[in-house]
Amino acid sequence: MEKIRIEDDFEDVIGKAMAGLTLSAADLAEKSGLEPAEVDSLLAGQLSVAALRAVAPILGLSADALENLAEQAWYPPAVLPDWVALFNTPFPVPGYAEMTVNSYLFWSGPEAIAVDTGADASPLLSEVAQRGLRLKALLLTHTHRDHVAALGAIRAAYPETPVYCPEGEAIPDTVLLKEGARLTCGALEIEARLTAGHSPGALSYCLSERGADTLAFVGDAIFCLSMGKAADAYEQALRQNREKLLSLPETTLLCPGHGPITTVGDEQRRNPFYAA
Ligand SMILES: [Fe+2]
Repeated sequence: MEKIRIEDDFEDVIGKAMAGLTLSAADLAEKSGLEPAEVDSLLAGQLSVAALRAVAPILGLSADALENLAEQAWYPPAVLPDWVALFNTPFPVPGYAEMTVNSYLFWSGPEAIAVDTGADASPLLSEVAQRGLRLKALLLTHTHRDHVAALGAIRAAYPETPVYCPEGEAIPDTVLLKEGARLTCGALEIEARLTAGHSPGALSYCLSERGADTLAFVGDAIFCLSMGKAADAYEQALRQNREKLLSLPETTLLCPGHGPITTVGDEQRRNPFYAA
């Protein structure tokens, strides 16, 4: 599969932090001592390392991590195990024609579980069929339209498969899940953790095999080097991501709804929102 592009550029990260902290460009200029024009050009994606380093502390972002993101010199080395498949399907929206969304399938023995639907379920449905798997469940991380776009197609193909949805974002004909809910898939255990903020009730699904954390499907709670926009509940999103996801063992794979997979350790060190 082609490399999935890192979801956000440095100016997107700055914009998300500004929205979360309700700071305007004028506020940012005043607090950082930059000229308004310097802030405007940063927000337009014109890199000035000095300007970027001046705004980072005002926004609670790691200046080093933000500079590294802007330099685009690093790509996550994380690799999925051979019992997980990622499907990256196009979901163009006005102003962002190249947008894609991730969905996943994992399996253990004959049982499989899907996470989110993607924009087009056909590659996921072919994987289930080709491997001769039984689709035990579909888990939704949250119900933003790009993550449930192909729900109808999965339901049509597997009408008996239950669809599990976060209780804080109920949609019709689903089984509602609370934080702490547990499911199994063959030898795998799945635990739901509340990682709201980007959306009101989002759940992340943490997988372990015999008690060892191996992987978490995080929806739009956190991305490789960024996070989903959480303008209305920014502090909650930051805190829950730290407590529920970045507290997992460093080698735990994080599988987000957009952008490439990454690890807890790489995000602890490199994500501008969370790096020290
Ligand atoms: Fe979302």
